[in-house]
Amino acid sequence: MSRRAGIIGHPVAHSLSPAFQSAAFAHCGLDAVYERWDTPPGALAARIQSLRAPDMLGANVTIPYKEAVLPLLDELGGQSARMGAVNTIVNREGRLFGFNTDGTGFVAALRHEAGFDPAGRKLLLLGAGGAARGIAFALVEANAAAVAITNRTPERARRLAREVGGATGIVTAVDPGEPPSGYDCIVNCTSVGMHGGPDPLALPCSLEAAGPGTLVVDIVYAPEQTPFLVEAARRGLPVLGGLPMLIYQGALAFELWTGVRAPIDVMFAAARNELARRAGGPT
Ligand code: ATR
Repeated sequence: MSRRAGIIGHPVAHSLSPAFQSAAFAHCGLDAVYERWDTPPGALAARIQSLRAPDMLGANVTIPYKEAVLPLLDELGGQSARMGAVNTIVNREGRLFGFNTDGTGFVAALRHEAGFDPAGRKLLLLGAGGAARGIAFALVEANAAAVAITNRTPERARRLAREVGGATGIVTAVDPGEPPSGYDCIVNCTSVGMHGGPDPLALPCSLEAAGPGTLVVDIVYAPEQTPFLVEAARRGLPVLGGLPMLIYQGALAFELWTGVRAPIDVMFAAARNELARRAGGPT
């Protein structure tokens, strides 16, 4: 029986997941396909119900349904219940399990692609939306010493810090005007610098106060070299782009569906190939 997985969202036309998940299935010799399941809001419940069929491995979930799918699932694994967001659904004999691999994918990317273990380190997150949320939860779980959150709308940062850190004091909100000094790692979790986003040429913060050796990370992956990363590299700081987070969240989902170790290099190559194809470059 050929198995199926796919991405549920609205829209999903620009998702890179079909390119790199299909490549991973093929590379591992799995008889499985990965599809785009564009799902208008009224069709979400039926779409989730369809995942219980025997040929279904499961699904990824993206904007705008990461929260909306929770009540449609049977069990929540990992931190997904506390986070209130699911990006991966696994079908186990007709029962649907929800997971969130966004934050854990980010931490895996930090460890494997930048050689940075967040345990005992101080990190600054720029932004307080859904992306920052997943990352903040995962950093606390990975035993970061301090997670500071700053945001254009400061109240959102304060709320997120309370929600993730509780009374531990590990997660704090900092004023957006404060220069970012004393951090081991600074992460752009806003859409600033994103191709087609609200501010593609801007920097999410100044790096003037960043000390030598501060790892600068951008979760934006298109373009692969964002203005923030270009500026960080100009200052001689180590950098990590957004593609690794995307690949590792997908790799963790792949492993949950199949029980097979994800072929990371194959997934990277397929994603880069697809990005180049879209940019009109060589395939
Ligand atoms: P996501 O789920 O991708 O995190 P989101 O919830 O819309 O998306 O959050 C986008 C983040 O980018 C927010 O932190 C947002 O700041 P506000 O909370 O103040 O809106 C931030 N952001 C978007 N455009 C920005 C800009 N031009 N300057 C600074 N921050 C911006």
